[in-house]
Order: sequence, then structure tokens, then C-alpha cells
Amino acid sequence: MATAINDTPEMDVSRTLTIRRHGLATRLTHWLWALALFFLLLSGLQIFNAHPTLYLGQQSGFAFDNSVLSIGAARTEDGEVRGVTTLLGHRFDTTGTLGVSGPADRRAYRAFPAWLTLPSYLDLATGRVVHFFFAWLFATVFLVWLVASLINGHLRRDILPSGADIRSLPQSFINHLRFRFDHGRSYNGLQKLSYAAVLLIFFPLMILTGLTMSPGMDAAWPWLVDLFAGRQTARTIHFVIMILLVIFFVVHIFMVIAAGPINELRSMITGRYRIGGELPRKEAGQ
Ligand code: HEM
Repeated sequence: MATAINDTPEMDVSRTLTIRRHGLATRLTHWLWALALFFLLLSGLQIFNAHPTLYLGQQSGFAFDNSVLSIGAARTEDGEVRGVTTLLGHRFDTTGTLGVSGPADRRAYRAFPAWLTLPSYLDLATGRVVHFFFAWLFATVFLVWLVASLINGHLRRDILPSGADIRSLPQSFINHLRFRFDHGRSYNGLQKLSYAAVLLIFFPLMILTGLTMSPGMDAAWPWLVDLFAGRQTARTIHFVIMILLVIFFVVHIFMVIAAGPINELRSMITGRYRIGGELPRKEAGQ
């Protein structure tokens, strides 16, 4: 497993060590939910486009003043149609991306543009079929990850931050700002915190708010609607978590690239991760 390089008695700065960093269950579930989330995002935006307004509470419609986000199109005084996004009562001109998109000679009047929805054209039925298929796959993969991580200790060892992880957060934050990533045998405090938020807060909330929007589940588990203060609130929370996951994804990919994409990716594909720098001989297995 180790590669010995020089003869310094205690420390060896040039030695690298290849360790087994991620177990099979961690790797398999990671790529399955990355795949599922890709389809869930695009088909979810297709479903959102069918009624591009979000509300709080139980009710929705023209008679209620409870919308928090709305994406649409409006005609200006000089007759031009512009994309308008209204967030918490503030109006933004989002022509080109939200509300009105596409080339000038073939304008599309839709909330999210064609390149962000699946299918690209307006087709709610297909969007729902794709969404529900990947939603069940996602929920199953999450349960498999949870059970496997409880059994093999991944959750306790690698995900839940310890007291020392919390205390090291300020230093870890400063290191990240300086582009010095303390990626080693285990996740650093910031990694643990962000993965714990995604795995233990965002994913379960995504699944539960999704179930809350299903009429069948409402009948079986009426407490779900009460838990989220109404189906419309559940839909808004579902959407907010989608945005948070997109932000996580962008930062996640940036960090993987910045921390050394080959090594990081290999660890999530084959499980093997190379750590270098000063390694005591004992640790390198000699
Ligand atoms: C929506 C998509 C994704 C989500 C939600 C996600 C989430 C996560 C989570 C929660 C972990 C920790 C897993 C665990 O230890 O159980 C992780 C690790 C990792 N992910 Fe992703 N991921 C996504 C997509 C990707 C993609 C596209 C790549 C590749 C470019 C990637 C590369 C990695 C790598 C290399 C690690 C291991 C990091 C390390 O060992 O330091 N992820 N991801």
C-alpha cells in the first residue's frame, strides 16, 4: 500500500502513501444520487414551469396574497415583452433567462429556459414521470447510504463533526481561503459540516417535502402536511433546498478541482487516495 522513497530515519517529506479512503457503498451511492439529482433538477424545473409561482401556507391562487416567488412575462409601456421575476415583492427584469428566453426571433415565454428543463419543450406529463422515477431511486439510494453508513461506521467516523472538528473550523476556514486544503485521511471540519448538512438535512428534507406534495401520501400520513405548515410551504421548501443543492454542487466541483481533481476523483471511483507530505515511517507501514 505504501511507496517508500528515501532513507531519512523519522520523517520523509517526499514519500506518498496511498490509502483506501471511500468504501464501496459510499462510492456507489455517491454516483447514483449524482445521476438521480441531475434528472431530478431538470425534470423538477419542467414541473415548476407548469405553475411558476411559489406560496406559503395551504392555499394558492389569485385570491391569496401569499406568493413568495413568481416568474413570468410582462408587457412594458412601449409594447416589449420582458421576463419578470418577483421575489418577496421585489421585481427583477430577468429577460433572457427567466420568464422570457431564447433568440430574439424565437422568444419563448416560459419560467425556466429550454436548456434547463427536461424535456426541453413544455411537457408536464413526461417531466412528472422522469421526476417520480428518479425520486424513488434517490430515496432508495439515500436509505441504502444511511443503513450502510450506520453499519460500517462511515456516518460516525467521517460525517458527524467531532468537538475537535468544530474547534478547528475557524482555522480550516482560513486554510480554505488561502487555497490550502487539509484533505487527508479523513474529511476536515468544513467538509464534514457541509456533507452532514447535505446528507442529514437537505436530502431528508427534499424527500419529506416531496412526499408532502403527493396527494396519496397526504391521505396516508396527514401529519406530513401539518409538519411543513401546508402543501404550498412544502413546495417552497422543496424549491429552496434545490437552490441550496445547486450552490453546494458548484462549490463542491470547484473544491474537487482545486484540491486535485485526479486524486479526488480516483478516491470516489476506486476508493484509493494518495496523501503526501511529511509522513512518519510508521504511518507508511514500514
Ligand atoms: C448533485 C451532485 C452531487 C452531490 C449532491 C454530491 C455530494 C457529495 C457528498 C455528500 C460527498 C460525501 C459523501 C460521503 O462521504 O458519504 C461527496 C464526496 C465527493 N464528491 Fe460529490 N456530489 C455530487 C456530485 C459530484 C460530482 C459531479 C463530482 C465529480 C466531479 C463529485 C466528486 C466528489 C468527490 C471526489 C468526493 C470525495 C471528496 C473527498 O474525498 O474529499 N461529486 N459528494
